[in-house]
Amino acid sequence: MAVSIKSPQEIEKMRIAGRLAGEVLDFIAPHVKAGTTTGALDRLCHDFISQELKSTPAPLNYAPPGYQPFPKSICTSVNHVVCHGVPGDKKLRAGDIINIDITVIKDGFHGDTSRMFYVGQPAIQARRLCEVTYECLWRGIDSVRPGAHLGDIGHAIQSHAEARGYSVVREFCGHGIGRKFHEEPQVLHYGRPGVGLRLESGMTFTIEPMINAGKADIRQLADGWTVVTKDHSLSAQWEHTVLVTHSGYEVLTVSAGSPPPPAAHAGTHG
Ligand code: MF3
Ligand code: CO
Ligand code: CO
Repeated sequence: MAVSIKSPQEIEKMRIAGRLAGEVLDFIAPHVKAGTTTGALDRLCHDFISQELKSTPAPLNYAPPGYQPFPKSICTSVNHVVCHGVPGDKKLRAGDIINIDITVIKDGFHGDTSRMFYVGQPAIQARRLCEVTYECLWRGIDSVRPGAHLGDIGHAIQSHAEARGYSVVREFCGHGIGRKFHEEPQVLHYGRPGVGLRLESGMTFTIEPMINAGKADIRQLADGWTVVTKDHSLSAQWEHTVLVTHSGYEVLTVSAGSPPPPAAHAGTHG
């Protein structure tokens, strides 16, 4: 199956879905504090998405082949959880790091974005992992332009992470996105320059590197969803949905509360 090229009308709808997904993260940010449960964050986001944004939380009952339906409306991945953490009644504790991953469907189109949040003051190593992972995301984004290859994105991410002693999770990747949550292509977070699919304007996909402080190996828990690091080292992830434009890229999931790109990237937009 070919990678879809979005029409101007479809791109406009992707812009709206993307911005709304970012706004859910803005909304939930002040609620991320010690003593709150991930289940409470899920309920707050669910109600905000459905009632305020008049949108649908894509994760709820999402069931790709080989998976049971996802039981909640957002993913909450704490500390050594790599991704797909299922919200529940465990309380956040000071010093935790948590990824909140939001995907909304608005007018038939998906917007998918995640950020790391600190619960109270993070340890210096935890903060560093989150910061470097954010730099990895933006190095990936900054590789996006027509004529570039998917391997350029993966290489930009992998080389940065590994130079800092971190490892890149291999089993999960970014993905094409549009009317479907996960479409072609697969956007690997490791790779070699000049290899893989050539990017064309009108493509929309996510970049969502999962970076571990220890080894890259992961394990899936018995709930069928939660993914953890095998060595229990900390893991971080950031995600944006991007559009390939004629001159470079447009990040579709930016909202008022999105952290600015790392300093090295200021002014290099598309
Ligand atoms: N939002 C995740 C991604 O970035 C996918 C989560 S699937 C779910 O691709 F079912 F767990 F929500
Ligand atoms: Co995604
Ligand atoms: Co996501």
